[in-house]
Amino acid sequence: MATDTSWLLLLVALVLPLVVLLARRGAGGKGKGGGRIPPGPLAVPRLDEAAVRAIGAAQRDWLLFVARKTSVFAFYPAVTKHIFRGRLQMGLALRRRQKELFVPLINDRRQRKNQINHAGGPSAPEKDTTFEHSYVDTLLDISLPDTDGDRALTDDEIVNLCSEFLNAGTDTTSTALQWIMAELVKNPSIQSKLHDEIKSKTSDDHDEITEEDTHNMPYLKAIILEGLRKHPPGHFVLAHKAAEDMEVGGYLIPKGATVNFMVAEMNRDEREWEKPMEFIPERFLAGGDGEDVDVTGSREIRMMPFGVGRRICAGLGVAMLHLEYFVANLVKEFEWKEVAGDEVEFAEKQEFTTVMAKPLRAQLVKRA
Ligand code: HEM
Repeated sequence: MATDTSWLLLLVALVLPLVVLLARRGAGGKGKGGGRIPPGPLAVPRLDEAAVRAIGAAQRDWLLFVARKTSVFAFYPAVTKHIFRGRLQMGLALRRRQKELFVPLINDRRQRKNQINHAGGPSAPEKDTTFEHSYVDTLLDISLPDTDGDRALTDDEIVNLCSEFLNAGTDTTSTALQWIMAELVKNPSIQSKLHDEIKSKTSDDHDEITEEDTHNMPYLKAIILEGLRKHPPGHFVLAHKAAEDMEVGGYLIPKGATVNFMVAEMNRDEREWEKPMEFIPERFLAGGDGEDVDVTGSREIRMMPFGVGRRICAGLGVAMLHLEYFVANLVKEFEWKEVAGDEVEFAEKQEFTTVMAKPLRAQLVKRA
């Protein structure tokens, strides 16, 4: 499909490629065909593309099930679990699939941990992986106080936490990435200004823009912030619950009430933002209406794509890094152009995140 000069890329779902990319980077995987590569004595299993795609598919099925099919169980679950029995069975089957895929990987890390504990420490540095202490390792280290003394997390609990972490960390970022690339396709002058910044901050023999390079690219950061403002992947945060009675703007929020925040409305509020429905990264540069915006909410709350406060997104830093890294490298390598007769549309569709109703389709021209 690829030629040196012109690529036509159909971004039907950026979710899976991103999972694949992240998993490859995270696991350092180079294996081809055949699923998992058997671990050596203290080695970490690497996943090939087929195995990563299987996990991507299981996660996506689970996510869509949770987003679209589970709200009925919030009302009188003792009754609805019988009325919607088929639906419940479907959910249980999807959970079983996740367990089939995750538990062997968790067991490999468990076995490695036991070997290390037994040997009094790793005997050799791990060359086949970029992580020495993975997320699963931190979960295996946890000891929960229980009635009969401390206990480790169960496999079910670990699978749940891994599933949450994978979904929270990939679907959100890939959704944001797709919206941002769509804006760059639709706004060639902004894309070209970004490319100018990239060229001015990197040398010609630069293979890849690194994390360090991105720290020196204010326009890149402004584009990411503008993307998160105009197209926050979550139009709401996760549901919160009022811990006590409180009054906000003259209204009583009773203890126990479910509370949420209209993230997208806030970001598109004309009283807060000039021309909120336009994509203007410059607003986040000096003198703009978004200069020095604080997305963590410690100083102000004008936009909160990651939530704010104690339950703020646990992956804010890594999400910003991924977005800056991917956008910079995608624009460095290719010019992203609109396909004649197949224009970019900004209509939204609600999945787990708010995605493009018509997935991005763009012509990619390899830069000289
Ligand atoms: C553009 C990317 C992302 C966006 C827009 C985003 C947004 C959010 C939002 C709105 C919440 C809920 C906050 C609340 O309820 O107040 C959340 C929670 C969370 N996010 Fe993210 N997120 C992103 C990327 C990531 C990444 C990359 C990771 C992990 C590597 C991650 C892990 C989590 C976790 C674990 C939670 C639950 C935190 C808790 O309940 O304590 N997120 N995120």
